[in-house]
Amino acid sequence: MTADVNPVSVEHLGAEYFQDPYSVHARLRAERPVTPVVMPGGMSAWLITGYAEARAALADPRLLKRMPGWHPPPDSIFAALDVHMLNSDPPDHERLRRLVNKAFTPRRVEGLRPRITAITEGLLDDLAGRPEADLLASFAFPLPITVICELLGVPADDRDDFRAWSATIVSDTVTPAVFTEHATAMISYFLALLAAKRREPADDLLSALLAARDSGDKLSENELVSMAFLLLVAGHETTVNLIASGLLALLLNPAELSRLRADPALTGAAVEELLRYVNPVNNATFRCAAEPLEIAGLRISRGDPVLVSLSGANRDPDRFSDPEGLNLGRDGSGHLAFGHGIHYCLGAPLARLEAEIAFAGLLARFGSIRLAVPASSLRWRPSTLIHGLEALPVRLTP
Ligand code: HEM
Repeated sequence: MTADVNPVSVEHLGAEYFQDPYSVHARLRAERPVTPVVMPGGMSAWLITGYAEARAALADPRLLKRMPGWHPPPDSIFAALDVHMLNSDPPDHERLRRLVNKAFTPRRVEGLRPRITAITEGLLDDLAGRPEADLLASFAFPLPITVICELLGVPADDRDDFRAWSATIVSDTVTPAVFTEHATAMISYFLALLAAKRREPADDLLSALLAARDSGDKLSENELVSMAFLLLVAGHETTVNLIASGLLALLLNPAELSRLRADPALTGAAVEELLRYVNPVNNATFRCAAEPLEIAGLRISRGDPVLVSLSGANRDPDRFSDPEGLNLGRDGSGHLAFGHGIHYCLGAPLARLEAEIAFAGLLARFGSIRLAVPASSLRWRPSTLIHGLEALPVRLTP
């Protein structure tokens, strides 16, 4: 890090940041669109909070996922779980993404509409008999996890196990021992599942990837496990927050909620604005500078880690007018909630469809949805990557 030659103060990201990253980003951005930070675990990085700088960084070929020539130590957790497209640079990135691209095109995803609707209606039926519920645990989580499990061919009954493992892996506050335990459990789980699918292939994405691996040698065994891990984690850690934090944003902005109830045709635009506003992924995953570069007048040295704040960019007043306000009628296009550049979210069409069905279903089923606790008592998960609620207790009336 070259903070010493750049006369700016260093920001420490900790418990307060988890609860409210927005006011930290606003304060930092007002000073400069890029700031040296210390992560909760002690690592130093550059945090980009301005929209123009964030968009440029996400498309900058000098900012790579891995330093050229670096490989995870063989037989390590990282060798087994981390060799996926989101951690890869060209040309590996394209090879890995191409293998699954077709399964996530808007057309293929549209074919899932009846099944996603049926899963949603089933969850709403379960909620209907309960005057009060944690909407996150009973609706926002089971909907996307059931969909991605079915797509991949992962038994949905195991979801409580990998919900716990996955929460550990994206957390900034777990001990190394717990991290190792949960990551190892995740690896063993996928190895056993893949072995079972090799014996008995089914009509699912993991079986298709195994066939590709076993015939054309396009994926190594580690790449296969990493791909399964990425798709499962990315497929549910994010959409759950769009649905739960999105509903919270609507409950806290009753005029916008009424507007949506009065005009369900607004649902697509509402999902875009909620993506901009609630930022299920707070910061993109780390990049590192493959060569020295300058961002907003600050010198970044070769090897420095760079963190692009998507939620910072999405609330930049230079890009969005009244950025702290929720406005379902705004043209929210250009938001960075799904990232930008070669790592732009593969699952964006699926996430959009799930969220549209979820919000339309919830509002049609319940004429009144209210928070069951004061908003000030809601807690956010301890992660710099994900911005998501721990729970969302609500009262529901048909
Ligand atoms: C609201 C829901 C979602 C949000 C906000 C979201 C956000 C993102 C973002 C910001 C990135 C880029 C990260 C970076 O550049 O560091 C990304 C990548 C990715 N997402 Fe999503 N995502 C969502 C849902 C999904 C779903 C449902 C899937 C389904 C499998 C998925 C799969 C992926 C994959 C595979 C990548 C890596 C793409 C690449 O490296 O080329 N995401 N997502």
